[in-house]
Amino acid sequence: MGEPFYITTAISYPNGRPHIGHAYEAIAADAIARFQRQAGRDVRFQTGTDEHGLKMVQTARGLDRTVEDLAAEMSGYFRAMCDDLDISYDRFIRTTEPDHHRASQAIWQAMEASGDLYLSRYEGWYSVRDEAFYDEKEVVTAEDGTKLSPQGTLVEWTAEESWFFRLSKYQQPLLDYFAANPDFIRPEGRRNEVIRFVEGGLSDLSVSRTSFDWGVPVPGSDGHVMYVWVDALTNYLTGLGYPDQSDDWRFWPADVHLIGKDIVRFHAVYWPAFLMSANIALPKTVFGHGFLLHRGEKMSKSLGNVVDPGDLARAFGVDALRYFLLRDVSFGQDGSYSAEAIVTRVNAELANSFGNLAQRTLSFIAKNLEGALPEAGRGDPADAALLADVTAAGAAFRAGFDDLSLNHGIEAWMRGVHACNQYIDVQAPWSLRKTDPDRMHAVLGTLVRAIRQLAIIILPVVPKGAGHVLDLLGVTVRDHAAIDDAGWYAAQVASGFRLAAPTAAFPRLEMPVEAA
Ligand code: MSP
Repeated sequence: MGEPFYITTAISYPNGRPHIGHAYEAIAADAIARFQRQAGRDVRFQTGTDEHGLKMVQTARGLDRTVEDLAAEMSGYFRAMCDDLDISYDRFIRTTEPDHHRASQAIWQAMEASGDLYLSRYEGWYSVRDEAFYDEKEVVTAEDGTKLSPQGTLVEWTAEESWFFRLSKYQQPLLDYFAANPDFIRPEGRRNEVIRFVEGGLSDLSVSRTSFDWGVPVPGSDGHVMYVWVDALTNYLTGLGYPDQSDDWRFWPADVHLIGKDIVRFHAVYWPAFLMSANIALPKTVFGHGFLLHRGEKMSKSLGNVVDPGDLARAFGVDALRYFLLRDVSFGQDGSYSAEAIVTRVNAELANSFGNLAQRTLSFIAKNLEGALPEAGRGDPADAALLADVTAAGAAFRAGFDDLSLNHGIEAWMRGVHACNQYIDVQAPWSLRKTDPDRMHAVLGTLVRAIRQLAIIILPVVPKGAGHVLDLLGVTVRDHAAIDDAGWYAAQVASGFRLAAPTAAFPRLEMPVEAA
């Protein structure tokens, strides 16, 4: 077993159905998880739903439903989204599950044992939408007199008895930690924002509520449930069996908490402070990705531009959606999508450049050589040069994915694909059939090797299509170590392997009528 690698997404509020922003985060985390598995790491990948809190209570009340019922139905849609999008999670957690209550109570008790919890009275501003408390200095008054958070969400005055966490005590330890661990918060811009926020001073945090009971009960304190973010963040430990030190504990500390930019403060300030208090190691990286916009605009129900990710996957194909989101959006920045942008990108790169390369090469061999992979043929320096280009593209892809620069990794892969297409143009294998079959054999064999490598490289991004190409080629070993396996082709020829007539792995997309 390789070295452990633990990646998590945020857990989503199941107060509505999933949208493309949730899909984006799940897809990015999945591609990283698949990449690390392929690299031989012992991967644990967790996602799920965050089911407590006032927002859930109020949404259920508004729909005249029980909160249990709403959470169960909507959580089902999030799980279905993951299944629709080929998300290879190891655990889909629901925070209403008993082991999660146990873990949350355990971390609470560990913080209490450190003397970091005290009972007092909270009076201040709370946004139900963000499930967040705001200081007086952060709240702004709108023209009509309503009070808004810095995110523009409505805040309301809340006054109740509450447990507090001594966040103020962790101001300096957090700043010291950020300074010593430059990769703890990424990308850089978000790290700077967090540092400025912490330098501005930290007030103690209200961590329990008494005005409703939909939450994890505070141990030994009747009438109090935990502030939803305390239990939500703890989900990352629940999945590893906390507080037991079972075999799964080897995955802690997490390698990457992948989250959106709106919840960086919770993950990069509150969470490490809770962990320090509970004497638990801190995660290695909190990566705050950007927001996905629709044609440059925020998605909202009132604009009518909230699209079900399952519908998009059915319209364009799962691979197409995955490829577009990871290739088009500069990872860490905001990105925009539209049906045209998906169709244009996918047709140019997946269908025309790579899909066509594989389809033309394999069907030519299937038709003209009865599917038999040609023997060596007459080599040329151009052959080795192409394979070197493809190997370099693979190394650059790996460097990109190791560094969470996903779009740069995919761009590097595309350079390998372009190198193959240029090679075809120059070598013109189809016209060598009559004039120089020996040379044609060498060219086709080189292309088959290059296509195999390119398919293995891109597998974490487009598992279906790349898997299909590899199936056609009879490739079973798909880990990174296999990419540069120079012996594979000769062994495949020697085994008498024959290609079947290929079916397209990356079909061209039509612009859907309703999306135009
Ligand atoms: N429940 C909290 C997270 C708790 S994690 C311990 C929450 N839920 S959420 O449903 O509002 O958001 C889930 C994730 O989706 C967050 O990482 C959030 O940033 C992300 N996104 C929500 N809308 C998004 C876009 N439009 N684009 C990209 N990601 C977005 O926050």
